[in-house]
Amino acid sequence: MTQAKRIVLASRPAGEPKLSDFRTEQYQVPTPGEGQVLLRTIWLSLDPYMRGRMSDGPSYAQPVPIGGVMEGGTVSEVMASNNTAFAKGDIVLSRAGWQTHALSDGSGLRKIDSKLAPISTAVGVLGMPGMTAYTGLLEIGKPKPGETVVVAAASGAVGSAVGQIAKIKGARAVGIAGGKDKCDYVKRELGFDDCIDHRDRDLAAGLKDACPKGIDVYFENVGGAVFEAVFPLLNTFARVPVCGLIAHYNETEAKPPKWAASLMRAILTKRLTFRGFIVGDFAARHGDFLRDMPQWVREGKVKYKEFVTEGLDSAPQALIGLLKGTNFGKQLVRVGPEKA
Ligand SMILES: NC(=O)c1ccc[n+]([C@@H]2O[C@H](COP(=O)([O-])OP(=O)(O)OC[C@H]3O[C@@H](n4cnc5c(N)ncnc54)[C@H](OP(=O)(O)O)[C@@H]3O)[C@@H](O)[C@H]2O)c1
Repeated sequence: MTQAKRIVLASRPAGEPKLSDFRTEQYQVPTPGEGQVLLRTIWLSLDPYMRGRMSDGPSYAQPVPIGGVMEGGTVSEVMASNNTAFAKGDIVLSRAGWQTHALSDGSGLRKIDSKLAPISTAVGVLGMPGMTAYTGLLEIGKPKPGETVVVAAASGAVGSAVGQIAKIKGARAVGIAGGKDKCDYVKRELGFDDCIDHRDRDLAAGLKDACPKGIDVYFENVGGAVFEAVFPLLNTFARVPVCGLIAHYNETEAKPPKWAASLMRAILTKRLTFRGFIVGDFAARHGDFLRDMPQWVREGKVKYKEFVTEGLDSAPQALIGLLKGTNFGKQLVRVGPEKA
């Protein structure tokens, strides 16, 4: 019997997760029953939403139970199949979570064509983060040629795609990222018009210089001090797709809304549109995404960067790092080789 490994939630973090909030367990590789497939994990996607699943506060999704396998999207290989829809050797997009092996009855699995693109992109630029950027920007942000689009976490999985799609639509793209290396990459490799380091003491002044005509679309990935710098620069009729608030995910209690009154006043007088969204809200646009995004990637109009840590054991530290910017690009864990 081959040993398999999984990482479960040992305790709910207070603030920043700690390694002791996770526990590694060994188990026997399971045997698929009738209608089931056995999956071997190749790539595990790490995403900021996982911090939310570790807490049991009110949310749009159920938390991971204590002792439950940490949730996550995976690219997996079918090792054995008792399901007529899948054959041994198929590569599939799955939600197998933080484990080396899993059983599935086939529901929710999607076959990946490894000839079209590297299979890891199914959880990155051609998967959930890419779809988030595409739908949030085009359905809510609706950038017009010549407008200014600002996005934070600009070198990351979602933000990098947001700025490049904004450029495709003829807008001016300004990124905000943590540190010189990330900003250089965002400008030089991804072709943003500018990128500001949010760790600079005068973020607000830098952003104002980078956006001389104000901001028409702010794709919100971060919240916190970044939002406070962006907010005064929003133009009349600006649109704000609220995608994520990573600066707040480790907070233990809600801060009092000390400037809620000025926010509301600006929403009224500038006729601002703020709309929160979860990528699944735009499932009807998946066909459009699958038409446009692979083509833009093939044409080099949308570039992407992957940040890989090795082995399932690296996942807890990598998630802790993702929440404070140690990743540089889409965070992936290589759980197993592409060819077994
Ligand atoms: N609504 C949805 O359906 C949906 C779907 C996917 C993702 N999201 C959200 O989209 C955002 C980006 O996700 P992603 O997967 O693309 O992650 P990512 O950008 O690849 O990685 C997270 C990045 O957030 C930045 N960050 C962390 N703390 C920060 C802070 N206090 N201030 C400024 N930046 C900070 C760091 O970049 P720097 O080093 O550049 O600061 C870090 O690298 C997250 O908020 C996530 O929750 C939402």
